[in-house]
Amino acid sequence: MKQASELNDRKPSLLTSTISGDVNGIATILGSDLTTTASTQSLAWLAGSLWLGRPLKSARLEKALDLTLRLLVDHGPYVSGAVNTIITARAGKDLVSSLVSGLLTIGPRFGGAINGAASVWFHSVEAGTSPVDVVEDYAKRKAYIPGIGHRKYSVTLPDPRVEILTKVVEDIAHPYLDFARQVSSQTTAKKPNLILNVDGCIAAVLLDLLSEEEHLGSAEISGLLETEFFNAVFVLSRSVGFIAHYLDQKRLGEPLFRLPENEVLTVSSPPLV
Ligand code: ACO
Ligand code: LMR
Repeated sequence: MKQASELNDRKPSLLTSTISGDVNGIATILGSDLTTTASTQSLAWLAGSLWLGRPLKSARLEKALDLTLRLLVDHGPYVSGAVNTIITARAGKDLVSSLVSGLLTIGPRFGGAINGAASVWFHSVEAGTSPVDVVEDYAKRKAYIPGIGHRKYSVTLPDPRVEILTKVVEDIAHPYLDFARQVSSQTTAKKPNLILNVDGCIAAVLLDLLSEEEHLGSAEISGLLETEFFNAVFVLSRSVGFIAHYLDQKRLGEPLFRLPENEVLTVSSPPLV
């Protein structure tokens, strides 16, 4: 047994971790043996548990994370992140540089609107704000509602990923999905492409599962919102796609990319006086 004086003499730790370690030759994650846990659990369970900092309880949430990770994996070479990765690969750069250049486009307009949407759905439901008031508030401020709108999809061309994802919470209480849908019925009445997009849908589905199935309280969900938990799923999944685009370009041996001049509008600036 160590004496109190001995404990007091201990050097303070340089860092603290609550999720994993490797002590006395046994690597652990979340308090269990790494190799056993990794051999028996799905990647979705591992990701969800490590991100929450404790083992996932809900099998439905695990299934939803797995489905989301699979559905988001790629959306063609057209989207911001894939374009960046492709251009970087064609400039002769390495795997990590090309991947990171794609990841850097994930944010409020592309892929990284999940957290912002979750924040709006969560705080509005908590405060009892009506969907109409949310839409009006954003319109007044001329701001975009995260999780609403798509360049390609619209009411006449629904996003198939959204249709599949909403089914996950169909037979449980889903106040956040209901709220998000009510917002989108207001916005689509203004413009047909102002649909509930895949980011907004994932935000609502995750909120419903975290509160109804994983039984997270309001403070815990607020903590997840502050640390951008909700965007993690897009970052992880789309990394697979970006890596695939990098490898595809290298396989094809594509040359340096340069924009054709006729695709760029050149406007001469007024002369300096
Ligand atoms: N909320 C309110 N109004 C909007 C929104 C929105 N989210 N998005 C577009 N509008 C309005 C614009 O104000 C504009 O109105 P106006 O014609 O009266 O000026 C009109 O719709 C068209 O706007 P654009 O910017 O041309 O719309 P675009 O089709 O280019 O935008 C985009 C698509 C970028 C997704 C946009 O809707 C947006 O920023 N949405 C919020 C962010 C978001 O959820 N991104 C995730 C998309 S899904 C994904 O990346 C995986
Ligand atoms: C995506 O998943 O990348 C998209 O929804 C964005 C897009 O414009 O297709």
